[in-house]
Amino acid sequence: MRVVLVGYMASGKSSVGKLLARELGLEFLDLDAYIEEQQQKSIKTIFSEKGEIYFRKLEHEMLSKVLDDHQDLMLSTGGGTPCYGNNMETILQKSDHSIYLQLSISALVERIKGEKEDRPLVKNIDDEDLPEFIGKHLFERRQYYAQAKHILECDGKDLETVVSEIKQLLL
Ligand code: S3P
Repeated sequence: MRVVLVGYMASGKSSVGKLLARELGLEFLDLDAYIEEQQQKSIKTIFSEKGEIYFRKLEHEMLSKVLDDHQDLMLSTGGGTPCYGNNMETILQKSDHSIYLQLSISALVERIKGEKEDRPLVKNIDDEDLPEFIGKHLFERRQYYAQAKHILECDGKDLETVVSEIKQLLL
């Protein structure tokens, strides 16, 4: 079984994916971590040295590769992964389940405030401008995330609750 988690930055894709994979006995991969390992560079460095377009090309290639290379996999993607090229189509075609971890703008703002440093797209945005930035960004991206097979509302839920609700969806 291949399961893919999608959603905005800081929606919990990596922590949910890791725990879920352990509970389901699936191999876990985080697409950003996979790219960093392949390139021997952090996402932050790839963005600053080569730019976003280069990163999106890598992300597109690695997404197909990891899905083709694994029959059984729990994959957490980057916040932008489904929104470029035909990546969401690839996710839908090559996975048994895709899940959008949905959070409100205000919940995302709260989470991202403390986690901007390693996220090149929000690093230079003042905290007070985050609601407007995230609101607009999410408006553009939601159409991709919403194509996922399942949408899970995550506001106010802790990690264990999200994981157990996803397990119900996969039954
Ligand atoms: C991005 C999200 C990041 C990472 C890159 C771009 C995005 O992943 O892939 O910085 O476009 O939203 P997280 O969702 O894990 O922060």
